[in-house]
Amino acid sequence: MNVVPQTQATAAEEIDYLELDNIIENEFRSDRENLIMMLQAIQRRYNYLPKPSLSYLSEKVGVPLSQIYGIATFYATFSLEPRGRNLITVCLGTACHVRGAKRVHERIKEHLHIHDGQTTEDRRFTLESVRCIGCCSLGPVVKVNEDVHARLSPDETAKILGGYE
Ligand code: FES
Repeated sequence: MNVVPQTQATAAEEIDYLELDNIIENEFRSDRENLIMMLQAIQRRYNYLPKPSLSYLSEKVGVPLSQIYGIATFYATFSLEPRGRNLITVCLGTACHVRGAKRVHERIKEHLHIHDGQTTEDRRFTLESVRCIGCCSLGPVVKVNEDVHARLSPDETAKILGGYE
């Protein structure tokens, strides 16, 4: 797997404007009071907020684009960059670090050919690292979406990631 520079990945995104109309008009009645829920729905569809979709939303609901960007950047749940279907979160906190989290992290990066914050070209995975995910006694811990994989060894990572489409 290779990584596409973010600009290429963004340019390749095809926006289905009929689908956007369905979200904005049918689901949320073009009501600007529902702006955050519209953004959530768009993000569910694309796994991130493509820039053209934000411009379109701005026109449709009559809210300045700058205000929409303000919301999209304020909430950590929104992403303006393409993201994979599966989010891998590697804990590099102290408890996990002393149990070998760095080697697990390195193995995942080697396997997917990406670094932290990047997404595989096929949009299957996005990789992130954090300082603690709250289950320190289970380290090294890697989360894939909502699944917590505990006491992980580097050799187990490929098999575990193989379980996610
Ligand atoms: S340090 Fe890894 S879960 Fe807390």
